[in-house]
Amino acid sequence: MFAIAIDGPAGAGKSTIAKDVSKRLGYIYVDTGALYRAVGLHMLRRGITAAEPERVEAELKNIDVTIHFQDGNQLVLLNEEDVSGLIRTPEVSMAASTFSALPSVREFLFDLQQELAAHNNVVMDGRDIGTVVLPKAQVKIFLTASPEERARRRFKDLEEAGKAISYEEVLKDVKERDYNDSHRAVSPLLPAADAVHFDNTGYTLEQSVEKILALVRAKD
Ligand code: C5P
Repeated sequence: MFAIAIDGPAGAGKSTIAKDVSKRLGYIYVDTGALYRAVGLHMLRRGITAAEPERVEAELKNIDVTIHFQDGNQLVLLNEEDVSGLIRTPEVSMAASTFSALPSVREFLFDLQQELAAHNNVVMDGRDIGTVVLPKAQVKIFLTASPEERARRRFKDLEEAGKAISYEEVLKDVKERDYNDSHRAVSPLLPAADAVHFDNTGYTLEQSVEKILALVRAKD
């Protein structure tokens, strides 16, 4: 199996680029952030906070998160409910970021991610794919862009989805999640020692995809 791991901060363009690369190669695309979002949504619904790790751990036993692929798109199922749309809110983004700092949550999602890569050629994106989940991935990319560029992209997506939020709020969220993700004790956002660093500020989607495909070709 061939694995491409793409890690980086929120809004770096990981999912758009990874989706396109996966289509071009005929691989499956796994958006691991969506799994953390599904866990975050479940905890929000139950009124459980990340400050109660024992409750979180106990509640994980009541959660079944799976992903399905439909026309190349990933659907996230939370206890068989399709939550793919519901997890795309700023509230759930923040919940995913806080709950993902708990070791029990990371362990809970680890097997599912490894299992997917064991049976499929994958493009998988997240925060710790190259470092922890798929340390043997053939291609590892650490994708970044400036916080302002990332906030602009997120803002545009949210605006298009009809969500009422200002650019300043999105920028604040991006910076807060960057801080949470890179300062947590377990699986902090860090480039793998063998990852290729790619700052795609000012790149078009096509240019970014081409750059990654060139890295893949070099490994073939
Ligand atoms: O990528 P996305 O913004 O959807 O991820 C939501 C949150 O889930 C991130 O801010 C991060 O805290 C967490 N996450 C993680 N590890 C991953 C993917 C996402 O901790 N592999």
